[in-house]
Amino acid sequence: MEKLLGAIFEEIYKSYPEVISSAPGRINIIGEHTDYNQGYVLPAAINLRNYLFLSKRNDKKVCLWAENFKTKDMFSLQKICFSEQNKWINYVKGVFWALEEEGFDLQGINGLIWGDIPLEAGLSSSAALEVIIVYGLNTLFKLGLAPLRMVEIARKAENDFVGVKCGLMDQFISVFGQKNKALFLDCESLQHELISLNLEKAGLQILVFESGVRRELAFSEYNKRRLESFRALELLKKYGIKSYKQAYLGVLEEKKDEMDEVLLKRARHVISENWRVKKAVEAIKKDDFRLLGELIFQSHESLRDDYEVSCPELDLLYDTAQEFTGCFGARLTGAGFGGSGIALVKREKTGAFREKLLKEAEKRGFVQPGFYEVEVEEGACAYFLNKEGKE
Ligand code: GLA
Repeated sequence: MEKLLGAIFEEIYKSYPEVISSAPGRINIIGEHTDYNQGYVLPAAINLRNYLFLSKRNDKKVCLWAENFKTKDMFSLQKICFSEQNKWINYVKGVFWALEEEGFDLQGINGLIWGDIPLEAGLSSSAALEVIIVYGLNTLFKLGLAPLRMVEIARKAENDFVGVKCGLMDQFISVFGQKNKALFLDCESLQHELISLNLEKAGLQILVFESGVRRELAFSEYNKRRLESFRALELLKKYGIKSYKQAYLGVLEEKKDEMDEVLLKRARHVISENWRVKKAVEAIKKDDFRLLGELIFQSHESLRDDYEVSCPELDLLYDTAQEFTGCFGARLTGAGFGGSGIALVKREKTGAFREKLLKEAEKRGFVQPGFYEVEVEEGACAYFLNKEGKE
C-alpha cells in the first residue's frame, strides 16, 4: 500500500514525498465518558490506520489530496479559516492553527492522505487524522516536539478549532498505543501503564460491531453530557467530594433526595465506570477474561441507563451477546449515540456471532452492521523516505 500511495503522490505533485506518518484508530475496552471527568480509561490502538505522505513547499500553501475521496483541497497558512463545506479538512487546519498558536512559523506542504479507519464510526478516525498531521510536520520540519506535546496539540486542534470538547483519550492512545497492550491512563495526572493483553493465548478475539448509525446528535449531546457531569460534580463538592475518582456510590445513595435525578445518574455512571476500569486492569493482569467481560457488560448497562448514550442498534449487540455462549462481554465503545460497539468473543465463534447479529439486525429492520476483527497495534510513527523507501 505504501508503494502505491507513494506513486500516487508522485503522479499528483511530480515529486517524491519526503516523509510518511501514520497513526491508528482505537477501541476503548472500558472507561467511557471518564476522560473529560479526570478519570480512568483503558483504550487500545487497532490495526486500522491513517497515513500521510508529505513534502515541503516554498510558499504558505497546504495542498492536500484525499485518496479516499479522490479530492484535492488547498488552504493558505496566511489565513486559516474554519470550513463549513468541507468538514474533514478542519482537523488538518486545526493542527496547523494549534502549532501557530504555539509559536511555530510553518511553511506549506504537499500532502496525500489515506486511511482505512471507517469514518464517523466511533473508532477515532479524526484523532488519527490530527495525529498524522502533527507527527508528519514534526518530522518534516524537525520541530522537536515530544509525544505528549503532540497529543496536546492534536487535542487543542479538536477542542478549540473544530469545536468538539473531547477529552484526551483518543489522541493519547493514537500516540502511545503499543502492539498487544492496553493503555491504562489516569486522565488527571496523565500517568499511564501499558498492560499486556494476552487475547490470543486465551483464544479470544475483539470484534468491532459498526452499527452504521450516523451520529448526528453526537456533538451536541456529547457536550451536554459533559456539562451535566460537571454540574453533578459541583453538587458533590458541597458534600466534600473533590473529584469523581475520590467519590463513592454510597454518597449518591445518601444524598439522592437532594440531587436532581438526571445529575445523579450521570454521576453514578462516572463513579462506577472509574471503579470498573480499575477492576478491568486487575482482571487483564490475571488473564481473567470472564471477569473483564462481565465488567464490559456492566459498562454498557451504565452507559445505556445512567449516561443515556446508547441506541437500539448498540443495545442489540449487548442483548445478543448476553445470550451467546462464547461471547464474554460486549458494549458500545467511544462516545455512543451510534458508532461502534466491541465484543470479546472466542476466536472460533466469531463467524457464528456475526451471523447471529446480522440476523437479529435484519429482524429488527436495522441497517446492516459492519464487522472488523481487530488486532491491537502500535501507535503513531513518522520517518523520512528516500526514493527506495524507508531511510
Ligand atoms: C469520544 C471523545 C473522547 C471520550 C469518548 C467517550 O471518543 O473523543 O475524548 O470522551 O468520546 O469516552
